Amino acid sequence: MMRKLYFASTATFWIVVLGFWAGSALTPGVQQPAVAADRDITAAELARHATPADCWMAIRGAVYDLSPYLPDHPSRPSIIEPWCGKEATEAYATKTKGRAHSGEADAMLPKYRIGRFAPGGAQ
Ligand code: HEM
Repeated sequence: MMRKLYFASTATFWIVVLGFWAGSALTPGVQQPAVAADRDITAAELARHATPADCWMAIRGAVYDLSPYLPDHPSRPSIIEPWCGKEATEAYATKTKGRAHSGEADAMLPKYRIGRFAPGGAQ
């Protein structure tokens, strides 16, 4: 009697485990975001986003879409806006005033990252 019960419950256990396994194998996985963060962006493409409303910058080898951030940036707009559409590593590193941005500023960057800077095309 106990033996029967033992086999029945063991069998049930494995049937449930197999069910979950098969179920997860059949369900499409979590959709990966398009590999946008690792897309190569050329200097030519970067240059097409050179207005405050559509502002991309290349900083330290990555391209950032800073359009949503510009209105919140603490400097006068005329200081940051000229860098839209450009390679701005040096400007970012110095604030064009010989002062580095804070760690807080560095930590904001990843949120705006849209790709890798490949000045002349895929490298
Ligand atoms: C590349 C062009 C940029 C230039 C020329 C620039 C320049 C400046 C200037 C002049 C200030 C205010 C004065 C000061 O704090 O010393 C400032 C502050 C700040 N900027 Fe920028 N900035 C640029 C890009 C960015 C980006 C891309 C971010 C972040 C996504 C950022 C985040 C901040 C923050 C958080 C501050 C407050 C002070 C600090 O945390 O260092 N800036 N920036």
